[in-house]
Order: sequence, then structure tokens, then C-alpha cells
Amino acid sequence: MKLWGGRFTKDSNRLTEEFNSSIAIDGRMYKQDIMGSIAHADMLGKQGIITPREKECIINALEEILRELEAGRLIFTEAAEDVHMNIETFLIDKIGETGKKLHTGRSRNDQVALDIRMYMREEIKKIYFLLLDLMETILALAYEHAETIMPGYTHLQKAQPISLGHYLMAYFEMLRRDLERLNDCYKRINYMPLGAGALAGTGFDLDREYVKEALNFECITRNSLDAVSDRDFAIEFCSWASILMMHLSRWTEEIVLWSTEEFAFIELDDAYTTGSSIMPQKKNPDLAELIRGKTGRVYGDLINLLVIMKGLPLAYNKDMQEDKEALFDAVDTVNKCLTVFIPMLKTASFHAENMSNAAEQGFTNATDFADYLVNKGVAFRTAHEIVGQAVLYCLQRNISLNDIELQVYKEFSSLIEEDIYKYIETKECLDRRKVAGGTASFNVIKAVKDSKLWLKELQKKYDEI
Ligand code: ARG
Repeated sequence: MKLWGGRFTKDSNRLTEEFNSSIAIDGRMYKQDIMGSIAHADMLGKQGIITPREKECIINALEEILRELEAGRLIFTEAAEDVHMNIETFLIDKIGETGKKLHTGRSRNDQVALDIRMYMREEIKKIYFLLLDLMETILALAYEHAETIMPGYTHLQKAQPISLGHYLMAYFEMLRRDLERLNDCYKRINYMPLGAGALAGTGFDLDREYVKEALNFECITRNSLDAVSDRDFAIEFCSWASILMMHLSRWTEEIVLWSTEEFAFIELDDAYTTGSSIMPQKKNPDLAELIRGKTGRVYGDLINLLVIMKGLPLAYNKDMQEDKEALFDAVDTVNKCLTVFIPMLKTASFHAENMSNAAEQGFTNATDFADYLVNKGVAFRTAHEIVGQAVLYCLQRNISLNDIELQVYKEFSSLIEEDIYKYIETKECLDRRKVAGGTASFNVIKAVKDSKLWLKELQKKYDEI
């Protein structure tokens, strides 16, 4: 018989059981479910709602269930519907009537809210460490490549020279914000909902603060209706994950592009690429493409959750059981993508020479030529016009600005002197950009150093928790 079978005169239809069951998805929260139940039982005992003997008996049995599940000696059944009732059924099978007391003052509605929050805390910690690892990797690479020149692009057209280190540090900044957002998301997850009961709270004298402490939560939820109907935190996580994936997707798009013969800025290690079943010469950046592709499913997870929740009246509705599939998919996808991306990046080789050759082409020093004229007293708009004409002159002759003879330069502007050649050298253009946040190597090295300290502080804080 079902744990809720009292008011029923028939067994569930097999289809009902199958359709209603979520154990295949929520079974992964078994540890959190058991830890939550242990804390609940402990508190029931402390409050005298169950006897000390009953409390001991329940906790011992729950610990045994945990061990047996982990050893594969207990197997979930679809008939028991979800993780909560599977575990409660195991408990009752083991200790009979006493086991039936565990659910006093509790509902699956506050129980599932607790389990998801506990599960997410652990998953976020894992993702947090992956992010730290990725950020450390970026810092090491950016330091190494603070002076590696590459073309910077706008509209995917060569724009101005930058350093590879500066480019990498752009992604560092995005991830820094991702890390901060994740921390923030964690804060809102870290609320303990037990005590909300089905929706209205409970008449039993529960000590919610005690359970909060036992399960290491920051706060207790403040409203029972909200506590059982809130899935904002899951939506917030998926929205966080979508932003992170958007960043990874942009980056992997560039890795795919840079791996082409046309760019040849990067070569991925053989261990992180794949071949073609027909074309023997191929070495494909499949992993980078997959990360770009999987971004779509994470966006899908976010939309899925938003749509599930948008029309739900308060409080709990069974629609909410659908939340976990989307949420877990986002968690798994982010985790897998970061896990693959980090070693792929660490083992990639950057072709500095191709990058700097590319930066020499495409008039990436044109802005600096205009700036040169400005420094000689020409108004910027006028300078822009003059340089535009010089670029056209070069295009017609298939030469670059550096190849223009001085007397020709003087026809464009009599203010141009011999020093123009040095002024528009690519390296000069790069190192001139000393403005805070600019690409000058000196800036990049400082940014790396500052960021290293920032990261160390974070790690220290994290170790203390
Ligand atoms: N498996 C359910 C879920 O994930 C647990 C809560 C069930 N509550 C209920 N009133 N049927 O949402």
C-alpha cells in the first residue's frame, strides 16, 4: 500500500504510477534527503515530540539506509514515487511503527524544498572550484602572453592591436562577475524551509533554528507559503548558468575560429580534439563546438523553469516536480563543460607569430596614425579623414601604412615627420594604450597581479567556511 493510501479504495493504475513517479530524477538527492531527515528526527527528539529511544532508532536506521544505498544493497522503486517516499518506505520496512513517526510536523513539500537547496549548495561549491581553477589558468596564460601581439577585432574585422594577455583578461573579468553572481545566488539558496509543512506551518513545537544550525544553513525561511512554493533560487541558478554558458560559448566560438587554417592562432591538443570518419586530414574542435552547442540546452532549462512556474497558484503544485530535471541538467551541463574546457585551454598552444603577423595586416595602426596627427595639432575628425585617404592610397597599391614614403606622407599632411614610422609600429600602438584598463603590457601584468591577489583572498575566505 502507498504511504498516502488510507483514503483510497483502489491501487494506482500502473500508468499513474509511471507518470507520477520522479524517482529516476530526484533519486540523486538521497543523501540530502537522509541528512535532512536525521536533523528533523533529532529535533523531534529534543523537543519531546518523539522519545529519545525513537529518535535513536530512526537516526540509526537512516544511517544504515544511507550506507546500504551507497553499497547498492537498497534499490529504489517507481511504485514508491519519489526519493522522499522511497526512503521513508525503507525506514518503515526496517523499524516499523517508529519509522512512521519521522514525518511528524513535516510535508514532502517542505522536504523537497530542503533537499533541492542542500543539493544545490553542494553542486555550487563544485562549480565554484571549477571556476577558480579556470580563472587561475587564465591568469597564468595572460601573464605568459602579456606581450604577445594579436589583432583586436570589431565586426570580426581587424581593428587595433591588443595583447593576447589582454584578450584573456577580458574573459577573466566576465568570469569574475560570474563568480560574484554565483556567490549571490548561493546566499538565497542558503535558507532552511523545514517547518513550513505542507503550506501553513505546523502546530507541533518545532525548533526550526536548531535544524537550521544542524544543517548549516544561514537563515530560516520567513513565510511558510513562500517556502514551499519558491523556486526562484532554481531559476536564478539557471539564469546564472545561462550567462556563464554565454561567456563560454563566445569563447569557444573564437577557439573554433582560431583553429581554422585561415586564422591559425591556436592549436588544440590532440587529446582534446577529434578526427573525421571520412576525411583523414581532419582535426576538429568538437569539444569547443559542443560547449557552444550545450549553451542552448542550458537556456532551454531556464526557459523550462520560467514557464513551469509562471502560472502556478500558491502554494505547492505538482508541476513543480518538473523543476528538477531542468535544474539538474543545467548543473550537470555547466559542470561537464567547465571540466572539459579547463584542460582543453591548459593544453592549447597559441601561435604567437601568426597572431602578430595578422596584427601587422589590415591597418590596425590607422587609429594611431590619426592620433599622431592630433598630437601635432590636427582636429581628430580631420585627422580621421586624412588617414582614410592614406589607407585608400595603400589599398590601391597593396601596401601598408608603414610602407608609405616620407615625401608621400607629407602630401597627406605637411606635419608628418620621420617619427611617424616608429609611432605606428604595432608594438608602439599597443604599449601606448596605458590608460587604465587599456591593452599596454604593463597594464596587463598589473591586472594579472591584482587579480591573483583577489583570487587568493577568495580562496582563503572559502577555505575558512
Ligand atoms: N516529488 C515531489 C516533487 O518533487 C515532492 C513533493 C510532493 N508533494 C506533493 N504534495 N505531492 O515536487
